[in-house]
Amino acid sequence: MAKTSTASIVVLGSLNIDLITQVDHLPAPGETVAATGLEKRFGGKGANQALAATRQGAQVTLIGCLGDDPDGRDYRNHLRREGVNCSSLNTVRGGTGTAFISVDAQGENQIVVILGANAGLTPPSVKMQRSRIAVTKLLLLQLELPLESVLDAIHIANEARVPVILNASPVRADFPWGEVTIDVLILNETETASVFGAADPEQWKDSLSAKRIRHLITTRGGKSTLIVSKTAVHEVPAHPVTPVDTVGAGDSFAGAFAAHYGEGIAIEEAVRWANTAAALSTLKSGAQEGVPRRGDVQSALAANAAGFSGVPLRGLHPFG
Ligand code: RIB
Repeated sequence: MAKTSTASIVVLGSLNIDLITQVDHLPAPGETVAATGLEKRFGGKGANQALAATRQGAQVTLIGCLGDDPDGRDYRNHLRREGVNCSSLNTVRGGTGTAFISVDAQGENQIVVILGANAGLTPPSVKMQRSRIAVTKLLLLQLELPLESVLDAIHIANEARVPVILNASPVRADFPWGEVTIDVLILNETETASVFGAADPEQWKDSLSAKRIRHLITTRGGKSTLIVSKTAVHEVPAHPVTPVDTVGAGDSFAGAFAAHYGEGIAIEEAVRWANTAAALSTLKSGAQEGVPRRGDVQSALAANAAGFSGVPLRGLHPFG
């Protein structure tokens, strides 16, 4: 399907300051390891995804909360410079959210998050954004916020028939699957197994209706991405790279996917863009430093022209 228009997207999500240590190996429980470096970067799943979508050409409004500290001020200025609409970003008393991240020599990571100001995105403040959410083309969310606030935003979108893309990360055992309608659910392999219980795409497919999910996208690191719909399972090859740092790769995927899907192209094609955007994002350290622009992804896709063969994994049914 050809591009129909630029995507206007509302992202509801978290903003963190990432404190990143480089370590040789990640600490086991009870172990102390020495870091070889420390960096302070902009992060948080909501802001990372908003930035990723903006760099793919979408018009993005970010709904979230920053602290009234210097980090909060710097973060707002940074997002404005990047072209993210910050008019729905509240400033609340206290510190901006913080993530403590360790990255090992293989590029694997461990993350501990302090919600901080993100906790200020309460249900009443989400309801105040009703008119913003109800008119957007797509709503993109994650679960690094109070759950009730996320659910309120999805309810508003459902009532207004705005498609919802949920990257349910970090996954939560208390998410009420089936209470709200989700157009596209994005999870990694581990998260998929935790939500769907079985490591078999055929079984995931069969439980989509009960969970009111139209499509499930499962990212698998360097392996192909699965698109599971009610009638078929497709796979879209990954873009080959040697990662330096995978922090935020899932956010680059979700943001890029939303930007391209929101343009009206087929889901397989949007995943092809997102796979490439996520792969390129791992070539620099930091969640936002490596997030590619549209032209970078386009060039990489062209250079890897043999990389797309969106083949059905099982069954021959087209998407429903
Ligand atoms: O997905 C990566 C992000 O998770 C980091 O930027 C960190 O802030 C945590 O939210």
